[in-house]
Amino acid sequence: MNHEHVLQTTIDDLVQTGRGILAADESSPTIAKRFQAIGAESTEENRRAYRSLLLTTPGLGEFISGVILYEEALTQQADAATLLPAAAWAQKIVPGIKVDKGKIPLALHPGDEITEGLDGLAKRLANYREQGARFAKWREVYTIGEHIPSASGIEANAEMLARYAAVCQNEGFVPIVEPEVLMDGDHSLARCAEVTEAVLHAVFHALHRHRIVLEWMLLKPSMVLPGKLQPKASPKTVADATLRVLRRTVPAAVPSIHFLSGGQGPEEATANLNALNQGKGPSPWHLNISYGRALQQPALQAWGGKAEHVQAAQQALLKRARLNSLAMRGAYLDEMENG
Ligand code: 13P
Repeated sequence: MNHEHVLQTTIDDLVQTGRGILAADESSPTIAKRFQAIGAESTEENRRAYRSLLLTTPGLGEFISGVILYEEALTQQADAATLLPAAAWAQKIVPGIKVDKGKIPLALHPGDEITEGLDGLAKRLANYREQGARFAKWREVYTIGEHIPSASGIEANAEMLARYAAVCQNEGFVPIVEPEVLMDGDHSLARCAEVTEAVLHAVFHALHRHRIVLEWMLLKPSMVLPGKLQPKASPKTVADATLRVLRRTVPAAVPSIHFLSGGQGPEEATANLNALNQGKGPSPWHLNISYGRALQQPALQAWGGKAEHVQAAQQALLKRARLNSLAMRGAYLDEMENG
């Protein structure tokens, strides 16, 4: 590997207290679903206009250090005839790219899934580099059920994450390693903790086997939560359970942990991040965000697919980014939502 300087520079540009990562890497089917919910059509022009709105939000760079994009976005233009990655970097927001190709059922393992996209990855990364991307993301997904995830499912997913991360570092891309334990279901918080701990153990074993330099990667985990069909746990309960699992599994060499929101509401996700930072004590890692829905939802709603609502949408995004920035310092208060 001869990308030490490049990888360290990307880490330095991404990992900063008070600045998080915006996940705006919705695949075409996912963004169509989000647009349908606000009554907008998923045309190429609408997707471009929406992504441009996000990335040209005045002041966003104060609270956001990186953005994960979907392949299509790398070649789309911001309104001022600038490509989207350049528009992001104009605010010192590092452009990144989702490189996995989505999940399929894991053969012979009912209920378990696995993510595809390793074939030709090095070549694709070379292309993405030309287009301005400097870091990458790959997501593996785990559903909790009575007998899932299976032990071999956990191993297979860990292996994929490690192989992806190795290709990334070999090509000078900082890998975001995203094992997402889903909230779907009626499992308890304790069961989520048990599964998340097993998953992260396997992931870091695999990263070690595959010679990943931990200082040059970022972890994007889910928080430890009760299943969606259960009553919600308090932010302090979520933070305590999440911190316990992270301390047991994540080496101190990892510079930063960027949580996904995974279906938490925007305010809930901010309150939980805040509790994590208040409860972490002396910690080797930054505890930060890489939220998709929890950052974008209010903006998407305010926009509604209409050009005349762009400013309102940008204000909604900036508000969430600013409040999450405060939560990274443990300085967020509920009443700020009305301020
Ligand atoms: P959410 O925060 O909406 O879960 O999205 C983050 C993400 O990148 C999922 O892969």
